[in-house]
Amino acid sequence: MVKARKIVLARDFQGEPRAEDFRVEEEDLPPVKDGQILAEAVYFSVDPFQRGNRAAHKVGDTMVAAQVARIVESRAAGFPVGRHVVGYWGWRDRTVADVGPNAEFPIHMSPPMLAPDLGDLPVSLSLGVLGMPGISGYFPLLDVLKPKAGEVVVVSGAAGAVGSIVGQIALIKGCTVIGFAGSDAKVKWLKDDLDFHHAFNYKTTDVSTALKQAAPDGVDVYFDNVGGDMSTKIISNMRYRGRIASIGGISQYNESEIQKLVTLPFSFLANQLRLEGCAYSRWHDRWDEGISQLMQWVREGKLKYRETVTDGFHNAPKAFIGMLRGENFGKAVVKL
Ligand SMILES: NC(=O)c1ccc[n+]([C@@H]2O[C@H](COP(=O)([O-])OP(=O)(O)OC[C@H]3O[C@@H](n4cnc5c(N)ncnc54)[C@H](OP(=O)(O)O)[C@@H]3O)[C@@H](O)[C@H]2O)c1
Repeated sequence: MVKARKIVLARDFQGEPRAEDFRVEEEDLPPVKDGQILAEAVYFSVDPFQRGNRAAHKVGDTMVAAQVARIVESRAAGFPVGRHVVGYWGWRDRTVADVGPNAEFPIHMSPPMLAPDLGDLPVSLSLGVLGMPGISGYFPLLDVLKPKAGEVVVVSGAAGAVGSIVGQIALIKGCTVIGFAGSDAKVKWLKDDLDFHHAFNYKTTDVSTALKQAAPDGVDVYFDNVGGDMSTKIISNMRYRGRIASIGGISQYNESEIQKLVTLPFSFLANQLRLEGCAYSRWHDRWDEGISQLMQWVREGKLKYRETVTDGFHNAPKAFIGMLRGENFGKAVVKL
């Protein structure tokens, strides 16, 4: 009998998650049936939605998460032993799962899919720049916001998995790019290594003052990863017919009372701005198109990636808590 270890939610999160909110359990796995695979996790993903999506948490459930895993046994066509697969199976080290048309997966997330063939690139990138966060940056920016060369693009959460990709794609498109992130070291990385035109530490700099200095004529495009007060300030500094994509609201995820949108700043109406919510699942049918363009940019050195890798199954909660506190540069993953 094959055994699996899994990290389950031991109690509801109260504010910031803590180590005591999790416990490890073991279970026996069933034999692999037709249409199924047995996969061994190689990397766990650590993502804000694990905190933000409150409906996904039930005490006793395996912590919801994506993972990239190696197929060790297969009775499913198209999923050969030895290939890597990305699945939303949670923080568990072994999984027997349906793949293909019968696969079950959490609402708003992706079905299990083979990881792209990354050649010499690390397989963990299929959880980052060449996976869900890459798609979450690529399509909302290029399909919804459509930045033009010369326009000013602002990205919040700029040094994170999605934000660092978005800023660099906007640079590839010839835009002036301004990033906001939560430490001086992140600001330095954005400016020195990723070539952002401007970057600011939102914890020590007034956002409106920074924008008046860096974008005196206003902001054309805002890629909003964080919500809350910072976003209100950025939206108040936009130009006529500016465009905003709401991707996430991490500034609110640990709050018990989520800030209500009372009213948009008057400038929203005066400047006739457009705001659109964007979930990556909208672009499932264009996944390969997005990944192949992102991979080309990575190989050409136009798109740099960075990962914050935590070692060890048991350290997944620590990596998750650290990511919510802003300890990650680029994509946070756990190596098993
Ligand atoms: N719509 C979609 O399909 C989709 C897909 C993926 C992600 N998302 C959303 O996109 C956002 C970024 O996700 P990600 O995976 O790229 O995560 P990430 O940026 O790699 O990691 C989260 C970052 O959020 C920042 N943060 C934490 N508390 C904050 C606060 N109070 N105010 C501002 N920033 C704060 C921290 O960076 P600092 O040091 O800069 O504070 C932290 O490193 C999240 O809101 C996530 O929910 C949405």
